[in-house]
Amino acid sequence: MCGIVGYLGKRNAYPVLIKGLKRLEYRGYDSAGVALLTKDGDLRVYKTKGKVADLENFSSDKDTTGTVGIAHTRWATHGEPNSTNAHPHISFTGNLAIIHNGIIENYAVLKKQLQEKGIEFKSNTDTEVLVQLIEYVRTKKNVDLLTAVRIALRSVIGAYAIAILDKNDPDQIIAARKSSPLVVGIGEEEFFLGSDASPIIEYTDKVIYLDDKDIAVIRRGKDVEVVDFNNEKMEHEVTKVDLNLAQIEKGGFPHFMLKEIFEQPDCLKDCMRGRVNVEANNVTLSAIIDYRKHLINPRRIIIVACGTSWHAGLIGKQLIEDFCQIPVEVEYASEFRYSKPVINEQDVVIAISQSGETADTLAAIELAKSKGAFIYGICNAIGSSIPRATNTGSYIHVGPEIGVASTKAFTGQVTVLTMLALALGKERGTIDNVRYSKVLTELNAIPEKMEELLKQGDAIKDISRIFTYAHNFLYLGRGYNYPVALEGALKLKEISYIHAEGYPAAEMKHGPIALIDDEMPVVVVATRNVLYEKVVSNIQEIKARKARVIAIVSEGDETIRKMADSVIELPHTEECLEPLLASIPLQMLAYYIAVAKGKDVDQPRNLAKSVTVE
Ligand code: G6P
Repeated sequence: MCGIVGYLGKRNAYPVLIKGLKRLEYRGYDSAGVALLTKDGDLRVYKTKGKVADLENFSSDKDTTGTVGIAHTRWATHGEPNSTNAHPHISFTGNLAIIHNGIIENYAVLKKQLQEKGIEFKSNTDTEVLVQLIEYVRTKKNVDLLTAVRIALRSVIGAYAIAILDKNDPDQIIAARKSSPLVVGIGEEEFFLGSDASPIIEYTDKVIYLDDKDIAVIRRGKDVEVVDFNNEKMEHEVTKVDLNLAQIEKGGFPHFMLKEIFEQPDCLKDCMRGRVNVEANNVTLSAIIDYRKHLINPRRIIIVACGTSWHAGLIGKQLIEDFCQIPVEVEYASEFRYSKPVINEQDVVIAISQSGETADTLAAIELAKSKGAFIYGICNAIGSSIPRATNTGSYIHVGPEIGVASTKAFTGQVTVLTMLALALGKERGTIDNVRYSKVLTELNAIPEKMEELLKQGDAIKDISRIFTYAHNFLYLGRGYNYPVALEGALKLKEISYIHAEGYPAAEMKHGPIALIDDEMPVVVVATRNVLYEKVVSNIQEIKARKARVIAIVSEGDETIRKMADSVIELPHTEECLEPLLASIPLQMLAYYIAVAKGKDVDQPRNLAKSVTVE
């Protein structure tokens, strides 16, 4: 979702801002803009619908000088994507420029009040309300910009990360946040702003992660000052970012998504490093040691998440119930936050989120906290809002995920959930030693087996070419592989725009079978486990209706090979670990189909990587 970049320093701001916007493209957006304070004291704003490259074209013959500026990629919420609604927005005096990420919930009331005072609005956005309100307060009360921002934000309800430039003060940027991430980078005589650290790391590894209701005053020649709405100084540590450029570049792959698919063996090694110790027959998660009394004997566990993370949660439920014998519910965070959950301090809530910024998941955490539940986070983005809002948790440590369609974060989340279930099961004495050792040894071997599986990339590419004609796909799986089917279908629809449904295989006969004909490919995850024979029957039923079957099977399965049109073999592993392997060919299938259809794999239409609005 919307991306924010800011620069104040000794360089020309424009190239830094454009590069920064490109680093944030992965978040998803539909228009872009930049505001610069030029040498001759002018405030120049250039904005356009489309990509950052369109903004560059648009600005190519314009004055882009100036050592201070702010820039933005907008993911439309209020008002269609066009150059008027694109950010930055300018105040009625022409002096202030603002960029904003988030949603102002009471914008309609504020807008009406401002219009009654004679202020004219140019756009349909909620953002413009902010800049007009701040300017109104500043002129009416004759106060400085910081004071006006503090006063104005007190009457704003909603989520925001903002950055503001004042035409008459080219040595300052003011930034503020509430429920939307914002990072300040500190270089040598220069400062940076970003929605995350990716636009900053090229220049400095020193950052300040702003907290909710922080206002940062960035001034040339001074230290960054952070205050709250009452002008109280907020102490902030300058932290070192643990991120390097190679991690956020494509490294020779045509798309981030493909790079991230192929990175998975290494990512899972990183995820397990220092945690899984096969020789010692042990899994160590520091959170379980530090918070044993909260985690060892909950009445039940509720997993809250969205999208792909929710699918990981479904696998987590099976793992935890299987190894720990604790009842687990899995809820969409967006539904949970508006439900009336019967939960209390005996419950543990596990919040799963790649970005650590998903607004619905954050709200679900706040609700669960207010009821006294203990909150455990499973996140990827270090220092993001969710890890800071939870009581404890485990990072998945798979590195930045740039492709909008989640791949390595999913397998990282499932790996952490497996380690969590193993560690808790052992502490509780609900998993026997033989099984514990077996699963642990197999988990440790997963990266190597993934390497083997990834070698089938070309074969999967060949299969994918056959299926670009399809308008609908069905994905089936059972048990541990049912969430894999859901995730496979989600991957395909996200990036190829082919309609795809995931179903538990046995449910096929209760509806979806009506759709099956020779134009409907069916992907079946049919590994050799307790439900194997039943899934084989499902494949027969599908073939009887002339659909093409793509089967994901265990190595050496000759039975299904004879029945299915295409077969992808998985190395053998424990049934509970099969999702870690079975999801790989489904990610590749979706990727190659989308590429064959010429789709924008890394930035699919309408989707955002980090969904910071409801
Ligand atoms: C967006 C992304 C999905 C992601 C979901 C949840 O919809 O496009 O890939 O699964 O948000 O995000 P989170 O960061 O909380 O895992």
